[in-house]
Amino acid sequence: MFPALPLGDRVINLVGAQGGTPDEDAMLNGHLLYYAPHGTANPGVNSTYAAGIDGVPVPCFHKGFAGVDAAIAHRYGQSPDTPPINECSAWLLAKTLGWPYNLLVPSCVLRELGGQPGSLSMGIHGKPGDPAPLAAGYPQGMAAALFDSLIAQQDRHLGNYRWDPAISRLHLIDHGYAFARPNDYCNASVFVEIRRRSGLAALTADERGSLNALIASPDVFGLAGILEAPRADCLAERARQMIARGEILNMGEF
Ligand SMILES: Nc1ncnc2c1ncn2[C@@H]1O[C@H](COP(=O)(O)OP(=O)(O)O)[C@@H](O)[C@H]1O
Ligand SMILES: [Mg+2]
Repeated sequence: MFPALPLGDRVINLVGAQGGTPDEDAMLNGHLLYYAPHGTANPGVNSTYAAGIDGVPVPCFHKGFAGVDAAIAHRYGQSPDTPPINECSAWLLAKTLGWPYNLLVPSCVLRELGGQPGSLSMGIHGKPGDPAPLAAGYPQGMAAALFDSLIAQQDRHLGNYRWDPAISRLHLIDHGYAFARPNDYCNASVFVEIRRRSGLAALTADERGSLNALIASPDVFGLAGILEAPRADCLAERARQMIARGEILNMGEF
């Protein structure tokens, strides 16, 4: 088991792990141009702010620790501290795994804005709930299923992805409630559900390679020092389970 670190130590580790890509550096260093509550047709469960950052050509989305609804977090088995940490951790994992996961998940950094530390996610275009990436065997949807199974995504409903028809690209947003522990609540996991229902749960050779790399990493790609305990242990255990069974896990099987 990895040691349980206090939040302050995990934030220091996260800040040390982020940066180094052009998008992350731009989000970390650009001056704040505007900051306003994000009104949306798909209201979420946490307070998300739209943030304009000088040097970043799209709006970004900021989720502060203080905006987390503690009762909802509790329902997911999470503390009010976890959503911004989980958001950044999902990106760090996608970044380390590389293609195709680093294209599915928008870049995300921890940054203080408006006097409030939180996760800052690069804005992406597209429609929520579009059926295109939900088609059986569609490659980006298959990759999303592997990723969501690995991160124990608890809330992948139709409003938590975007499909951009102009470039035929799927983006996954909202990783606040992920890195679940066994028996934690699962609200939705559409990509896992469809991949399993389509009889396509078996891992590809590339997926086995990605999972084996994570298992071989002594600190779970650095996430052992960032995620709230025991979430990094659970992450590594899911990867081992998937390798042992040769397939992604069931929906809600954390
Ligand atoms: N990276 C992003 N790109 C585009 N829109 C985003 C992004 N992150 C958040 N949003 C917008 O903000 C809303 C709320 O963010 P989300 O991460 O889903 O938080 P929650 O559902 O926990 O409140 C989303 O439904 C979406 O409209
Ligand atoms: Mg959401």
